[in-house]
Amino acid sequence: MYTEKVMDHFEHPRNVGEIENASGVGTVGNAKCGDIMRMYLDIDDDGIIKDCKFKTFGCGAAVATSSMATELVKGKSVQEALLVTNKAVMEALDGLPPVKVHCSLLAEEAIHAALWDYAGKHGIVIDGLVKPKSDIHEGEEAEEEEY
Ligand code: FES
Repeated sequence: MYTEKVMDHFEHPRNVGEIENASGVGTVGNAKCGDIMRMYLDIDDDGIIKDCKFKTFGCGAAVATSSMATELVKGKSVQEALLVTNKAVMEALDGLPPVKVHCSLLAEEAIHAALWDYAGKHGIVIDGLVKPKSDIHEGEEAEEEEY
């Protein structure tokens, strides 16, 4: 059912954890399954993503896609990071079963939420960046049932 790459990233997820004083932090939730993903970005003065870490409270596909997404955004500019779509993450994992495609959307939205947070804090506009609908602000976790 899962490709070798998905299993590898599920069993050995890369970049798990938190970044203290991160440049941007995004938390998103999936309304249907209730899974939550938090992404931390460390971005330098030139707008390059130096580090990326994540925490996922979710299914195996969510863990694997977050892990791959962190690998793909590292070293990219904030603008280039927008190209790390759920499709790009799935391709890098050699595919996901159709019923698990929605899990990869969480990874894309977590990146966007973290970039949105970064842009807001720094008064920057990132072309094409839209605030994800699944964005959860700190302190709003208690209202998860609304998703
Ligand atoms: Fe919820 Fe995969 S089942 S993210």
